[in-house]
Amino acid sequence: MPDGPVDPAAFRGLMARWATGVAVVTAHHAGQDAGLTVNAFLSVSLRPPSVLVSLMHDVDSLPVIAASGAFAVNVLAADQRGLSERFARTVPSAEKFLGVPVHRGSRGTPLLNGTLGALECRRVAATPQFDHVLLVGEVVGQELGRDAPPLLFFRSAYAEPDPDGRVTLPRSPRS
Ligand SMILES: Cc1cc2nc3c(=O)[nH]c(=O)nc-3n(C[C@H](O)[C@H](O)[C@H](O)COP(=O)(O)O)c2cc1C
Repeated sequence: MPDGPVDPAAFRGLMARWATGVAVVTAHHAGQDAGLTVNAFLSVSLRPPSVLVSLMHDVDSLPVIAASGAFAVNVLAADQRGLSERFARTVPSAEKFLGVPVHRGSRGTPLLNGTLGALECRRVAATPQFDHVLLVGEVVGQELGRDAPPLLFFRSAYAEPDPDGRVTLPRSPRS
């Protein structure tokens, strides 16, 4: 393997082979809700339960998330692709939440209805790293939602569920 500068597009292509779930990170501060779609999400530790999400430094949701001190991670089901697309749009946050049924966590964070589950976190770190901010949260509450197939993202596309819940992975761009 040659050691040298890696082309960002080639790197993106390799990372597209890393299959992930899809979640929506939400927060609430001073009467405002914010939310955005993420797949850069992982658990950090069990004791205490903690997670990390990596956000582009200039996403509109970041000021609300940073000011709030709390955020939630809502894990999407296969039939919630519409929510993923909605929260990945660059539109005002009020528009993103318009007509979306939510309930509230103990810290007022909006939790999307119908997900596989949601974690409510106390932000313990927001570390700028390159062009992203790494948010680490200690999980202060969680709810288990539906036991249903997950929304999957692979090859820069969503896997499609059939009515029986079986998913078909996106085809290779070369096939
Ligand atoms: C499947 C998927 C995964 C994404 N993962 C991330 C992510 O992990 N971090 C991030 O900053 N943006 C991610 N995005 C892009 C944001 O959702 C998108 O930039 C969004 O418009 C940001 O909204 P905001 O600017 O209103 O906060 C992802 C988008 C999609 C469709």
